[in-house]
Amino acid sequence: MLSKRIASRLQDLETPFYLYDTELLRQTLESVVNESQRYNYKVHYAIKANYDDRLLSIIREYGLGVDCASGNEIRKAVEAGFDPRTIVYAGVGKRDKELRYAIEQEIMAINCESIEELTVIDALAAEAGRRVDVALRINPDIDPRTNHCIDTGQADSKFGISYEEILDNAARIRSLENLNIVGVHLHIGSQIRELHVFENMCLKVNVIVENLERLGFNFRFVDVGGGLGINYDMPENEPIPNFASLFAIVHNHLHVGDREVHFEFGRSIVGECGELITRVLFNKTTATGRKLLIVDASMTELIRPALYGAYHNIENITADTDRTDKYTVVGTACESTDRFDENVSLRRSKRGDLLSIKSAGAYGMSMASRYNLHDLPRAVYSEDLMK
Ligand SMILES: Cc1ncc(COP(=O)(O)O)c(C=O)c1O
Repeated sequence: MLSKRIASRLQDLETPFYLYDTELLRQTLESVVNESQRYNYKVHYAIKANYDDRLLSIIREYGLGVDCASGNEIRKAVEAGFDPRTIVYAGVGKRDKELRYAIEQEIMAINCESIEELTVIDALAAEAGRRVDVALRINPDIDPRTNHCIDTGQADSKFGISYEEILDNAARIRSLENLNIVGVHLHIGSQIRELHVFENMCLKVNVIVENLERLGFNFRFVDVGGGLGINYDMPENEPIPNFASLFAIVHNHLHVGDREVHFEFGRSIVGECGELITRVLFNKTTATGRKLLIVDASMTELIRPALYGAYHNIENITADTDRTDKYTVVGTACESTDRFDENVSLRRSKRGDLLSIKSAGAYGMSMASRYNLHDLPRAVYSEDLMK
């Protein structure tokens, strides 16, 4: 872990900040590119995971496309130099101005999430005098066996169109004159660690694609989304996620034919390269005897634990003893859920010590807020520190 190796250089920096290990990011990108090239799979980076400019410029060097969830994310990707023809755009509630911008940029595909959205895009395409490439985001009703707050492909979820609804509306969809229905898209959830889930997904996709093609659709690509999980428990054991295993599963189970296969990875690309570095402000013990460690970061820098009980491994990287204590690590925000972990065993911690909250590169900075008028967290890059 980078922060531990260079703790003395971090000591005097103003906290809290995100520390990015750009070398690890490069190694991760090399892995995903090499493994995907074996099967000619196309990889998009889900920019929602982290839109830091420096990270984006590194990701662009490796030739990935981008998966966006808003007009502003498309704008960010375009401004960062990504080719619009490699950008896909999903989202249940796309505003008209966002759709107009996507149409104007001639992105690779708009991944549509309702029948009504298809009719709206058809009208906006007519207004622009263009035929627009769209993919049908299908809700395959699969349990991804992950934190229920981040599953997206079960029947009652807001995401995607049910297969049955597509079947019922097939003729209507095909009659929309200003749309090319070029692909099928799905994304069943995030932080998926049980890879057999992807096998089930492929089997469902095979049936869906074959039946829809029998009804006259002709898909150029299947985009199976992202979701590959990372090792939050022991990040040092698995700094680079197992792309090879996921690709092998898809290769063995998805009937590809002459269709392209696309992936949209967020967490697995940037998750492990980021740590949130925070400083201990105070020690305090509650009336019930609970030892609190109050740090200078909070849910405004990293909301995942407060938002959906997500776990991040925490380590004191500058403690001067190996003796440990159990702490509840809390932040500075005026919310009781502003807690990074409970009863965590840390080296005995005192005011001024630095803690690393690990595996925070994805959905950390990009979900930061200015609640309590906190400053947005800064970023520090390993390649600058190593100079
Ligand atoms: C449509 C879509 N694609 C890709 C992703 C990226 O998922 P992950 O970070 O789990 O790879 C998300 C995440 O929410 C998503 O909604």
